[in-house]
Amino acid sequence: LEAARPSRLGLDAFLEHYGDVFEHSPWVAETAWKQGFTDQHDDPDVLADCMGNVLKGADIDQQIAVIRAHPDLAGKAALAGELTQDSTREQAGAGLDQCSAEEFERFQRLNQAYQDKFGFPFVIAVKGLDRHAILYAFEKRLENDAATERQTAIEQIIQIARFRLHMRAAEAA
Ligand code: GUN
Repeated sequence: LEAARPSRLGLDAFLEHYGDVFEHSPWVAETAWKQGFTDQHDDPDVLADCMGNVLKGADIDQQIAVIRAHPDLAGKAALAGELTQDSTREQAGAGLDQCSAEEFERFQRLNQAYQDKFGFPFVIAVKGLDRHAILYAFEKRLENDAATERQTAIEQIIQIARFRLHMRAAEAA
């Protein structure tokens, strides 16, 4: 049953397809490919699991670098149109491009407070959330300790990657 097995992509082709699933962090996809667990690259959940395991198994410094690669929600880069295509779509999908001046101010204050407390930006999988739910989660998570937030951010980033992989599979079909 040879034909049932998806063909393995070479490293370059794999990175071409999936290198940007983790924001500005292609080493996650590269490490997953080198571990050899990416043969079933046409199954988004299999890929999300194996790339997610790479990130979970990474050093704390590497994890923090991946968290720091994320733009602020409703931040200056978003206003300036400097986000990746995925981030632009995700932030707009949650209505973050529709903030009132007051909501925008609130995001700026929370982004700053969060960054000051933890040293990395607030990351949340925004799929299915509106900006009110995001602001509520933001204030709650500000009360956590740094280890809990780092752990939560990594889980959220893997969730974001899973969603991006599903979007890509749907678009390719
Ligand atoms: N969740 C989904 N997309 C993003 C993003 O661009 N930035 C942050 N901080 N969280 C996200």
